[in-house]
Amino acid sequence: MTPLRLARYPLVSALAAAMALAVVAGPADARVAVDEAGRVFRLDGAQVTYAFGVDEKGYLQPLYWGGALDPAAPLQARATRELSGFDPAGMQTAQEYAGQGEGLVTDPGLKVAFADGSRDLVLKYRSYRLEGETLAIELADIARPLVVTLRYAIDEQTGIVTRTATVTNRGRQPVRIEAFAAANLTLPGASSYQLHFLSGRHAAEWTPHAVPLSPALTVLESRRGSVGHGNQPWLALTRPGQTTEEAGPVWFGALAWSGSFRLSAQTDNIGRVRVAAGYNSHDFVWSLKPGESLESPRFYAGYSHAGLGGASRTFHRFQMERLIPGGAAAALRPVLYNSWEATAFDVTAEGQMKLAERAAKLGVERFVVDDGWFGQRNDDKAGLGDWTVNPRKFPQGLKPLIDKVHALGMSFGLWFEPEMVNRDSALYRAHPDWVLNFPGRPRTEGRNQLVLNLARTDVRDYLLGVLDKLLRENDIQFIKWDYNRNWTEPGWPEAGPDQQRVYVDYVRNLYFILAELRRRHPGLEIETCSGGGGRIDTGIMALTDQAWTSDNTDPFDRLAIQDGFSLAYAPAIMMAWVTDVPNWANGRTTSLDFRFLSAMQGGLGIGADLNKWTAGDEDTARRWITAYKGIRATVQRGQLYRLVRPTEGAAQTATLYVAPDRAQAVLFAMQRGSQWRDQWEPLRLAGLDPAATYAVRVLGGGALPEGVPARASGAWWQNQGLTLRLRGDYVGLGLVFEAAK
Ligand code: GLA
Repeated sequence: MTPLRLARYPLVSALAAAMALAVVAGPADARVAVDEAGRVFRLDGAQVTYAFGVDEKGYLQPLYWGGALDPAAPLQARATRELSGFDPAGMQTAQEYAGQGEGLVTDPGLKVAFADGSRDLVLKYRSYRLEGETLAIELADIARPLVVTLRYAIDEQTGIVTRTATVTNRGRQPVRIEAFAAANLTLPGASSYQLHFLSGRHAAEWTPHAVPLSPALTVLESRRGSVGHGNQPWLALTRPGQTTEEAGPVWFGALAWSGSFRLSAQTDNIGRVRVAAGYNSHDFVWSLKPGESLESPRFYAGYSHAGLGGASRTFHRFQMERLIPGGAAAALRPVLYNSWEATAFDVTAEGQMKLAERAAKLGVERFVVDDGWFGQRNDDKAGLGDWTVNPRKFPQGLKPLIDKVHALGMSFGLWFEPEMVNRDSALYRAHPDWVLNFPGRPRTEGRNQLVLNLARTDVRDYLLGVLDKLLRENDIQFIKWDYNRNWTEPGWPEAGPDQQRVYVDYVRNLYFILAELRRRHPGLEIETCSGGGGRIDTGIMALTDQAWTSDNTDPFDRLAIQDGFSLAYAPAIMMAWVTDVPNWANGRTTSLDFRFLSAMQGGLGIGADLNKWTAGDEDTARRWITAYKGIRATVQRGQLYRLVRPTEGAAQTATLYVAPDRAQAVLFAMQRGSQWRDQWEPLRLAGLDPAATYAVRVLGGGALPEGVPARASGAWWQNQGLTLRLRGDYVGLGLVFEAAK
């Protein structure tokens, strides 16, 4: 390990003195520290401390997770005694990572069955080492040669701790893994905790839930093979009475995994929070052969003392700077056009060229051809799997269209659904054994399609080859990668008794293809889509540039969808389209202005039939697209404040984005309906520089509403606020605040 220049880092020096420090690693503002005795471990970063230690019995216990502690904090692990004959010591001990053994009744990190049938696993501390800025802790069973390595790293910008677990079989017999988590987490006993999570269904994703945490185990999971539209692999824990949108403690976490996952939470017999997060143990076993290891996905654990708003801003920043491809240097999302809602499968070179011309005139920067361009794809019954250009629709291939799109100054994108196959396709006819299936059992279809078994290396290599060839032969800048069903018969006959590996191998191969395509085609951008927002998580986020949030494009429903999405994920990756009315999802008709104001709160796209737009519509769109380009850096890179959330029945909502340097802020005020000559409560802004003067203007042009001064200090906007008397149903207003230079 490189010795650190302690003098440059005052906290490190202080920690060194206080802990009789043996080891320190990390950049200026993030540290990993271990006390001299090698019994207490501490990670410090961005006003967060995370600590754990070894007790006299050798258990690794969580010691602290929350706001920064002083360097001299007297952290020490003490052995836990049994509480009663019913509550043995091993079960009472909160463990950083618990083996299923010794009567544990909360969810373990690892549950195994040894070859002789024994299922008792008691993990105790063995050793630590530093791997760069990562702290690796080795635990081992008290008797058998099974080792778990926990890895920890803390981010200096956000205090977010990244955790993984790796289990290694050092014995001579295979070990059957029956449950395997990336992390266990424990929070101290308290009168009450609230559990926050997100769930939904197709076209109705991202609904926030908040329930009291109780001794009844709450499981957030997917059993679908993919993340799905149901539960998200994200949770947050708050303290009722203390935590609000903008204040109080929030502990949050997310599993970076795009397959079946399981996050569980409950309070234990003395009110402590116990969390486990990892692969879903439902229908999952893994045979770990002698000498082999299995690694968990990453789990990101964050803390904020600034409420749910603070927690999501912290996580957004982490995602933008540490997770998304390119990090802080990633390009802003271009304004996109996609004709799916306008043309469905009826795509032709000529039709798309016409749309491209119209889109370019509006200021669109990326043109995307959706489903229907390949094979015999005239509806959803045929063609999936045959990734060759349909010669009837594109007689000269894609080139003339791509050239045209480029000549119009736009980048070109193409839709794929690589993991799927219709029975009516050349690929399925050639390889009926390539799909997930149990021999002799039905192959249940969803949207007339079957799922290719990507866990098979031949399928993986075939798909990579097909996509790579298409990208080599065509000048494509962007892929929309779709996935329109979940698993039903998750069989992998060729893998015999080991076939439940499919849950892990499939996702790993998906990640492999995405990473490999990016490596071979630098500059390629990818959107993750699964019937809308069915495959969005921090795992796929590291390999894709943006996400299709939902197939529900109604601008009012979207406000709730976007609010929920923002609890866990950054608005910069959240794509939103302006589409035609009445909306396909719910028949609602709204103005073009309202649709733009809703869609501008993330990555803006247009999905309308531009052939039907009047000159007036085009002028409106041009105005909004120009306005968006002036604020998108703030929307996509700024700090998000959910000032008034679209809770059930709320008539008005307000969202504020503040640029990182606080020079610009954008307020979106959206009104569902007016009644009783109602008025808004003052909207008090947040995140501004109180001493700076901000001039305000209406986004997209127009006169300032009555009562809103043209200039005022940040302090005024934040303390006095502004009262907006909007009138009408489904109306909105955007205001832009710019700090005087
Ligand atoms: C999914 C996507 C849509 C569209 C269709 C095409 O539903 O979410 O945006 O691409 O597939 O079949």
